[in-house]
Amino acid sequence: MNTPATKESPKTLEPESDILGKPAPSVLDVRQSMNAHPLFQPFRLKSLALKNRIVMAPMTRSFSPGGVPPLKVADYYARRAEGEVGLILSEGTVVNRPASSYNANIPHFYGRKPLVSWKAVIDKVHAAGGVMAPQLWHVGIVAPDASGWLPPAPFEGPSGYVTPGKIGGVAMTELDIAKTIGAFAQAAASAMVLGFNAVEIHGAHGYLIDQFFWHPTNQRTDGYGGNTLAERSRFAVELIRAVRKAVGPDFPISLRISQWKLQDYAAKLAATPQEMEAWLVPLAEAGVDIFHCSQRRFWEPEFAGSDLNFAGWAKKLTGKTTITVGSIGLSGDFIAAFQGETATPRSLDELLRRFDRGDFDLVAVGRPLLADAGWARKIHEGRTAELHEFRTEALATLS
Ligand SMILES: Cc1cc2nc3c(=O)[nH]c(=O)nc-3n(C[C@H](O)[C@H](O)[C@H](O)COP(=O)(O)O)c2cc1C
Repeated sequence: MNTPATKESPKTLEPESDILGKPAPSVLDVRQSMNAHPLFQPFRLKSLALKNRIVMAPMTRSFSPGGVPPLKVADYYARRAEGEVGLILSEGTVVNRPASSYNANIPHFYGRKPLVSWKAVIDKVHAAGGVMAPQLWHVGIVAPDASGWLPPAPFEGPSGYVTPGKIGGVAMTELDIAKTIGAFAQAAASAMVLGFNAVEIHGAHGYLIDQFFWHPTNQRTDGYGGNTLAERSRFAVELIRAVRKAVGPDFPISLRISQWKLQDYAAKLAATPQEMEAWLVPLAEAGVDIFHCSQRRFWEPEFAGSDLNFAGWAKKLTGKTTITVGSIGLSGDFIAAFQGETATPRSLDELLRRFDRGDFDLVAVGRPLLADAGWARKIHEGRTAELHEFRTEALATLS
């Protein structure tokens, strides 16, 4: 991840009524209640069959020298499968474009060696009882990485902007766009051939696809730009159509989207439910099965006048499966974690209230699963006393 451009101070909605502050319920009570809870009931969508609703959020780890995931990466994901995660989303893994990555240790999802290694990953995850989708990524135009590594071609994006008004790469030609769409489709086809259970397209957080969505970084005057979000969605719509064509009708496609960007935490692509509908419905029609709605704090309402969060609105407007995410089970958000803040376990009550109301179908968890491969099993079995805090040091290892 790149250094964020701005910092929004983390807020908390609930008083700190976290699990550790309450008398610990007996393990047996919680085990019975979570066993019966729909969070731990199976979920089916097309060819996807999950044992529960817990999703491991995609997390870049940069442990794949030369883009090839070593065996320890396969073991890392297999441990999460053993720990009862329903659906594992891989770290962002880049598609076949010269400047799709910003760091030499981010895995590739193309080329013989990386794909042989990804085959080892999915085989190990399956052997451990897990289900997994790779997150396919193109970083677009980003600031050069602190490591000093640069891709063999300039960073590419819709208009050359890395942040509003600042050039950091080149504007893509229509041929570049067509090749990039082809690279995503090829990677999705590879995922299916290797035996992965679905694919996720990274359309969030200010990277390439989101740079097309966002007006400050998409100033194009051709058919890939425009004044409305719906017009600027053409690149994503064509990309999803191509991915759908490559994987056929039954293989689930998830699209990760966010309003916020690393370039601007307060950005809103869609300012109203109407704008969100005009953005998401064409993407659903193009082939998206799951909208993975990234928020830093899942409890924050998306629009005034309703407490529905992003995933709640996306489900209401499209009728599609949605995933919520953002500070579930932990105090503090993940940007604060990058800045060294330690996060402590937090009650799941507010999450369960929304889940039980039917706001979303699946629940993605990042840092808790990065720090503890057994997090989902501990929640399922009510072993709350065994949950531990998230410290920045966890980013340095693949435990
Ligand atoms: C170390 C780290 C790496 C991340 N890398 C990615 C990534 O590759 N793709 C992505 O969509 N989100 C990425 N994220 C965001 C997470 O998927 C998730 O949305 C965020 O951590 C909030 O969830 P949490 O509060 O449960 O940690 C990353 C987060 C962390 C902590």
